[in-house]
Amino acid sequence: MNKNPIGIFDSGVGGLSIWKDINQLLPNESTIYIADSSNAPYGEKSKKKITELSIKNTELLLAQNCKLIVVACNTATTNSIKKLRETYPIPFIGIEPATKHAAINTKTGKIGILATKGTLASELFLNTSEKYRGDVEIIESIGTGLVTIVESGNLDNAELLLREYLQPMIDKNVDNIVLGCSHYPFLSSLIKRIIPPGVTIIDSGEAVAKQTENILKDSDILNSAKSPGEHLFYTNAKYDILEMFLKKIRAANYAIRSL
Ligand code: DGL
Repeated sequence: MNKNPIGIFDSGVGGLSIWKDINQLLPNESTIYIADSSNAPYGEKSKKKITELSIKNTELLLAQNCKLIVVACNTATTNSIKKLRETYPIPFIGIEPATKHAAINTKTGKIGILATKGTLASELFLNTSEKYRGDVEIIESIGTGLVTIVESGNLDNAELLLREYLQPMIDKNVDNIVLGCSHYPFLSSLIKRIIPPGVTIIDSGEAVAKQTENILKDSDILNSAKSPGEHLFYTNAKYDILEMFLKKIRAANYAIRSL
C-alpha cells in the first residue's frame, strides 16, 4: 500500500488521453501530470534534447514523491526510457506504437502507423517493428504539424494534414491504423471521417493503464484506499487549453499549476 501519486508526463496535453484510461482503471490513485507544452513538439527534436527534457520532467515528478512514472509520450519513451530506467530507482511505464497488436489482427496484411518523426526514427521503434511485423507490410506516415494543432486546441484544423498523411495508407488497403502519438487519439473522430468504414484505429491507452496496474500490484505499491484520487496538472502554457482538454476527458478533483 502506497498513497504517493503516480507521475505522468508528456510534451503537452496529448498524454491526457493516457491519463484518462489510467484514471478510469485506477480511480483511487492520485496523479501528478506534467504538460511540457512550451517544448512541444518533442518529435522534431534530437534524441539528446528529448532525453534532457524527459530527465527534467522526471526530476520534477520525483521531487513530488511520485512512486511510479508513466512516460505518456511515444517520442519520449522510444528515445529516452532506457536512460530513465538506468538512472532512477522507481518503475517507469512507457508507451510505444502498438505495432504488435495491429500486426496480429490484420486480415489484409497491411497496417498503417502514424507517429512523430522522432518515434519512427528511433532504434526502439525499429527493433519492435522488426520483431513483430512478420510478413505484414507497414505503411508509416510522419504526422508533422499535428501535435502543434492539438496543442492549439483547434482540432478541426488537422483535417487537411490528416487527409494527406492517411491517404497512402488508404491506397494500400490497410485495415488497422496505429496512432503512435498520444496526441492523436484527440483526432480520432476526424480520422474516422477520413478512413473507410471497417478500418480499426488502435491506440495504446488501455494497454498502458493495464500495465500500470500490473506493475503497481507486482511492486506492492497500489493505493487500496476507497476514496477517489486527487490530481495535479502542471503546464508551462496557457491554462485554458489544458482546461478544455480536462473537460473533454471529464477529469474531476483536480487543480492546475504553472510549471
Ligand atoms: N505525445 C507525444 C508522442 O506521443 C507527442 C510528441 C511531440 O511532442 O512531438 O509522441
